[in-house]
Formats: sequence, C-alpha cells, structure tokens
Amino acid sequence: MPLTLHDQVAIVTGASSGIGYGVAKALADAGASVVINYHSEPAPAEALASQINHAGGHAIAVKADVSNESDVDRLFQASQERFGGVDIVVANSGVQKDHPFVDMPLDDWRRVLDVNLTGQFLTAQRAVREFARRGPRPVSKALGKLILMSSVHDVIPWAGHVNYAASKGGIQMMMKSLAQEVAPQRIRVNAIAPGAIKTPINRAAWETEEALERLLKLIPYGRVGEPEDIGKAAVWLASDESDYVTGTTLYVDGGMTLYPEFANNG
Ligand code: BGC
Repeated sequence: MPLTLHDQVAIVTGASSGIGYGVAKALADAGASVVINYHSEPAPAEALASQINHAGGHAIAVKADVSNESDVDRLFQASQERFGGVDIVVANSGVQKDHPFVDMPLDDWRRVLDVNLTGQFLTAQRAVREFARRGPRPVSKALGKLILMSSVHDVIPWAGHVNYAASKGGIQMMMKSLAQEVAPQRIRVNAIAPGAIKTPINRAAWETEEALERLLKLIPYGRVGEPEDIGKAAVWLASDESDYVTGTTLYVDGGMTLYPEFANNG
C-alpha cells in the first residue's frame, strides 16, 4: 500500500501511553520521523523513541503540558531543531476526571477543558503557523495535516462525564471551523473519534469479565478496539491517500455510534 510517510515529520501529543502511543508507533512504522510528547511519564516515551531509532527510524521524546502555551512552543521548537519542522500533527492529549454533575469540582471541569480542548487549540494553532512558516514540500500534496483526537462522546451524551463530553463536542466544531478556515492554504484538518479502545483511561470498563460483558453490549462489532486500530486511521488521514478529505470525523468505534440498544428494540 502506498501509505509511506517517508521524509515527513509528525508530532503526537500525549504519546507515552494508550492511543497516542499507538499512533506514534504507527506513524513511525509508516516511515515518519516522530516527536513523542509526554506530560508526566518519560520512561515509556523514551523507550518508544529508542525502539524506533534502533529499528532505523527517527524519534525524540519531549516533555510538555499541552495546556501551557510556552510548553507547546517548546514542543514545536524541538521538532524544528531536530527535524527542521513538521508535516503531520496529531493533537491527542486527553484526560478524564469523572464526577456526577452536581458534585463536579470546578478544578476538574477546568482541567479537562484545559487539556482536551484548550490543549488541542494551542497545538493546532502552532501546527498551522509552523506549516505556513515552512511552506510546501514535495513529500505531500498538502501543506500540512492536522488530526484532532475526538471521541464517540462528541455525539454520544455521557452522564457522569459532562466535562469530558463537553470537551469532545467542542473539538468537533473547532475541527470543522478550522478546516474551513485553512483549506485554502491546503492544510487538511480532520478528527478521529475512537470508541472503546483498550487503554489505561478506561481500564475499569474492560478489566473485569462483568465490565467487559457490559461494554461489549455497546459495541455491535463485538470486540474492544486496540490502539493499532486508531494508528491505522491516523496513518491514512496523514497520508496523501486521503488528500481530498478535510473537515471530517472518522469514527473508529466498532459501531458504538449506531445506537446498538435499538437493534432489538424501539
Ligand atoms: C473514553 C473511554 C470510553 C470510550 C467509549 C472514550 O472517549 O475516553 O473512557 O471507554 O470513549 O465510551
């Protein structure tokens, strides 16, 4: 498959675990040089970088809190210094801080919006500036590719997770409005909306047999997703194979958004 990302540089935020880790690995496997951003866990980020470097690829791990403007600047500077710029940016960092609505502490409302929505805003803004600074390159038809990590909860309401669902709903309209704004510059902006992917963020939903059984009732395709499922989608959206795709959300969810509870009801 001509999905090669050779000679392209990718930044992936929140890549020390879970979906971000899977996306960074998939982009590296497709030939991209990768900047692996982490917030608080250097060890897995450094380990992934050296794994990629030992396999003949190119990667660095860079610490940054995506909700902090100067940290995000440093992240993009690191990419520029090491690799000369960036072609693909995956704004993936995200957290959950779940509470019943009436008990939601303002700090946990703010932290989730800060990381999930403002963090993606800051990352996307630097990405657009950097694509424009660097200018067109022969490695891709687009000036740059930006992928925002959304969730099925940009359309599925989620009781007990109002802060998280609000942040993901916000990502949907940020992505579309930004895609409209920068399409004339040939910058493509899309989102991936994962369903239940087996990662630390939702461990409680799959680690016991009872929880897994309940979760599978929400997934018509009958399995929990893996980070590789999202990695493959990211490689496609980052490649010229999707050159005419912008402003869209790709749901990678085993059918979770198909209202499975209506299959035998209604
Ligand atoms: C959440 C997970 C959840 C999944 C499906 C994701 O966005 O982070 O905790 O399992 O959506 O509900």
